[in-house]
Order: sequence, then structure tokens, then C-alpha cells
Amino acid sequence: MSEQLVETATSQTAAEAGRRRTFAIIAHPDAGKTTLTEQLLLLGGAIQIAGAVRAKGERRRTRSDWMKIEQDRGISVATSVMTFEYAGQIFNLLDTPGHEDFSEDTYRTLSAVDAAVMVIDAAKGIEAQTRKLFEVCRLRDIPIVTFINKMDREAREPLELLDEIEKTLALDVTPATWPIGSGQQFAGVYDRDEAKLRLLREGGEQDVALSGPEDGRIDSLLPHGQGDVLREGIELASVYPDFDLASFREGHLTPVYFGSALRGFGVKHLLDGLARFAPPPSARSADARMVEPEEEKLTGFVFKIQANTDLQHRDRVAFLRVCSGRLRKGARLKQVRTGKSIPVNAPLFFFAKERQVAEEAWPGDVVGIANHGVLRIGDTLTDGEELNFQGVPSFAPEILRRIRLDDPMLAKKLRKALDQLADEGVVQVFRPLDGSQPVVGVVGQLQLDVLSSRIQAEYGVQISFEPTSWSTMRWIAPKENGQDRAVLERFLRTAPSQMAEDHDSQPVAFFTSDWGRRRSEEEWPQLRFLALREQH
Ligand code: G4P
Repeated sequence: MSEQLVETATSQTAAEAGRRRTFAIIAHPDAGKTTLTEQLLLLGGAIQIAGAVRAKGERRRTRSDWMKIEQDRGISVATSVMTFEYAGQIFNLLDTPGHEDFSEDTYRTLSAVDAAVMVIDAAKGIEAQTRKLFEVCRLRDIPIVTFINKMDREAREPLELLDEIEKTLALDVTPATWPIGSGQQFAGVYDRDEAKLRLLREGGEQDVALSGPEDGRIDSLLPHGQGDVLREGIELASVYPDFDLASFREGHLTPVYFGSALRGFGVKHLLDGLARFAPPPSARSADARMVEPEEEKLTGFVFKIQANTDLQHRDRVAFLRVCSGRLRKGARLKQVRTGKSIPVNAPLFFFAKERQVAEEAWPGDVVGIANHGVLRIGDTLTDGEELNFQGVPSFAPEILRRIRLDDPMLAKKLRKALDQLADEGVVQVFRPLDGSQPVVGVVGQLQLDVLSSRIQAEYGVQISFEPTSWSTMRWIAPKENGQDRAVLERFLRTAPSQMAEDHDSQPVAFFTSDWGRRRSEEEWPQLRFLALREQH
């Protein structure tokens, strides 16, 4: 290729990467994530009517709904990534399951985004799941835009909500808007940046540019008494720091928008904010070096695997986040972990209701690669270079169960099933060093139900679970590689029945209590006891 051609290709990669905005929505169940997603897709022209994504909030699904969804995985594949165009940019919205039992999947998805929208219920404020997900975003300094939803219902005072975000999350806030009333009285918001009233009207929003907070029209446009309340609000809002792009992009400051996803109010403003502030794909760290998105050579990593509906072929779709270069249909990529060459004959692109074969994909995009179980969560794919991205996390599970196999003749089949389902991230599998039956670790009980029903349906093996006395586990690693390796070996020999290997042959130890874990940590200062492991 001539030099000029190389340069054109490189700058096209830079331009395409620069247009991508890849993000997720984090929320406690019921805060309005599904409703907001639909509104965003409507604005992006990806769907035509509200209600097209999912009929119900995730929390309201019954257990059998969830099991059915697991069995009908084609649907969740289709909604895993939603791509739409808005304001000249291409948005990739990565879906995160809201049910708490599926939060591991969510954590992994967050490793593939460049920004997040945090949805908060205006009456409830920060809830448990919001907080957990926020902590994962913080681990990677993911910039966050906040949407305070359900202002059309009785809400807490804006000041109280902002202070709660600031204090409980230790995150600076800057209100992009200030709400005018709430519930029946919710009249809209004041846009601080543009000194504008954005008024809630039947069937839409009416914008009125003001000369400033003292503009006399405020009183004529708002219901009686609301003008004074708003002026007071604007005064209160001014104590917060001004928006600062650098601080936002470093994950230290969040702009806050107030609205109602159900009424479609405030959503366009939020999306405009994302389009203006959310970062395009940035450099990502790999073990060998930093990878810049505009590099011509393709790199990417697998953050999610989903089994297909076709049981006969055991097809699976691996979700690849492209980090650099252009992915072309028909390319062959190197799976760095094994050195294998993986054909990408039909990369899938995802739209709200359908999948389409993509001709090409760029940094920030997520494509689905169908395979027969070769690809694993955490795998790095490249054009040939030896490098591994870091950062698809595993968290120490708190529910540990031993598998009981009803028919011992099926041990080999069970092993295969567990290997494949662990690749997919359905559960974590640990093999005790004393050779006893495998132990599975999960975040929620529901994962166990999904595991046993899938092993039965897909592999014809009946299993049940036995309780263990363990309440926690840690990955064990030597502090320094050299002589501490021998210490690790010694530690593992102290109680083989409490030690195991994870799916990647990494050593782990189980503990019956936090007290026991702390005691081991004190007794073995040369070792690290890790609650989180980043897969390579
Ligand atoms: P989730 O995905 O975060 O779990 O939440 P989802 O969007 O499903 O919303 C949960 C419930 O809150 C839904 O009500 C939804 O209609 C409602 N909701 C979402 N945003 C708003 C809002 O801005 N204002 C008001 N008043 N309600 C909102 P539901 O009763 O579960 O479902 P539905 O029967 O209304 O569809």
C-alpha cells in the first residue's frame, strides 16, 4: 500500500472512531431504564413506537419469565446492543440486565463502554444497585451523566437528591437543569446552560429563551407562585461547580438532568448532552502497550457470550468490542490466548429489533461473532499482534454450592457442560484441589436455577446443589513472583479441601467467615487475597 493510502485509511479510522459514542445505562430495577432506552431509540429513529423494546420492567418479571428468557435467548441477543444515529454520531447502547442476580453480566458489559447514564428515581434517590454499578464505573473512571427520572411523580427536593449523589458517591455534581415542581405540579425545567425554560406541554416540550433568571416572563409562563420557587432554585443551583469537560471525562463530575422518561420529557436534552460531552473511544491499556483507537490494525476483546437458540449446533455469539482499526467482514483474527485464527465471516450488528450482517465495524462498535465455543469472555482478538486487553472483571461470588451429580457415569459430560457455561459466564466454576465435586459460585440464586435447567436441557445431565460451609472466596496470588510462588504452593497444601482452581487454573481459597479470611491474610503476608480478578 502506498504511504498516502495508508494515511487515508488511518484517518478514516480516526474519523469513524470519533463519531462513536458507546454507553450503558445503569439503574436500580424500576428506576426507568427500559422506558428511557425506548425514548432514546425513538429519538434515534431506531424504533417507531414506545413499548417496542420490552413490555415490562425487569423487576416485574416473575422467575418463570426469566427462565423463559434464558431459554429464548435470541431475544436478549437482539437487545444486547442497540445502535442508533443521532446528531451525526453513532450511539451504541449496551444493555445491562437490571435483575440483581445478573449483575456479573452487567459488570462485564461496563468494561466495554466509554460512558454511562445513571438513572435515579426522583422519589427514591440512590438505591443499592445504583451504588454497586456506580462503583464499577468508578473503577474505570467511566464518565457519568445523571438523569433524575419520574419528576412527574412526587419527588424529593432537588437539593436533597443532588447532595445525596455528591455525598454517597463522592462525586461532584453540576445540575444542567433545575426542575420546576414535581408530581402534578411538574411544569418543566430551567436549562442553566442556555438560560431557557423547557416547559412540559401535552405532546412535547416548549422552549422559551430567557434574558436571565430575572426575566419577567417566568411568572407569566409558570403557574402561580412557581416563579419565586424557581428563582430560589436557580440561586441554590449556583453553589454547585460549573460544568467542566475534563473533570467529567475523568469521572469526577456528573452533569444532572431532571425529567420524566415516561412523558418523554428531558430525554432529548439528555441525549444532546451525551452527544456533546460523552467521549469517543479512547486509548485502552493492554498488557503489552496502550492501544489507540485510530490505529489501523484491528484489536478488540470479548466481554459477553450468549448461547444461541440452536441446541443442535451449540452456536454461541461472542460480543466483541472493537478497540482499534477496522473490522471487515471475512477477516481472520488471531485469538491471542490460543494463537488460533478465527474467521469473522458474518459479524452481526444489532439494531433494536433485528440483527444485520455488518460489512465493517469501527472502534467503539460491538459486533457479534458466531462461533462454536472457541471464544471466551476476556479473549483479545487482533490482526496478529500479541497483546491482551485488561479489565473484564470477575468478582468473588458469595454463594458457593457444590454440585451433586445424580448419575456418576455422566461426569465427563458434566465437565464439558460446566466448561462451556463458565466460558459464557453463566456461573464461576471451581475445581477443588482434593479432587472432590466442582463448586459453583454465583451472585444470586437465580443463576443456579438457570445453570441446572440449561445443563439438563442442553446436555441431558441432571444435577442438584449441596450447600457448603463457605461464605466467601478469594483469588490467591504471590505478592512477588519469584520466591513467593513457593509460599503460595505451601499455602495451597495447608488445606486442599478448601482450595481450588478457577476456570483459568488460577488458585482460589474458600473461607467460612470474614474473620477466617482476615486471619489467613495476616498469617500469609507474602500472598495477596483478591476479591476481584481481571481476566486476560
Ligand atoms: P426498569 O427498566 O429500570 O426496571 O424500569 P422501567 O422503565 O420498566 O420502569 C418501571 C416503572 O416505572 C414502569 O411502570 C414505568 O412505566 C414507570 N416509569 C418509568 N419512567 C417513569 C416516569 O418518568 N414517570 C412515571 N410516572 N413512571 C415512570 P410499570 O407500572 O411497571 O409499568 P407500566 O405498566 O407503566 O408499563
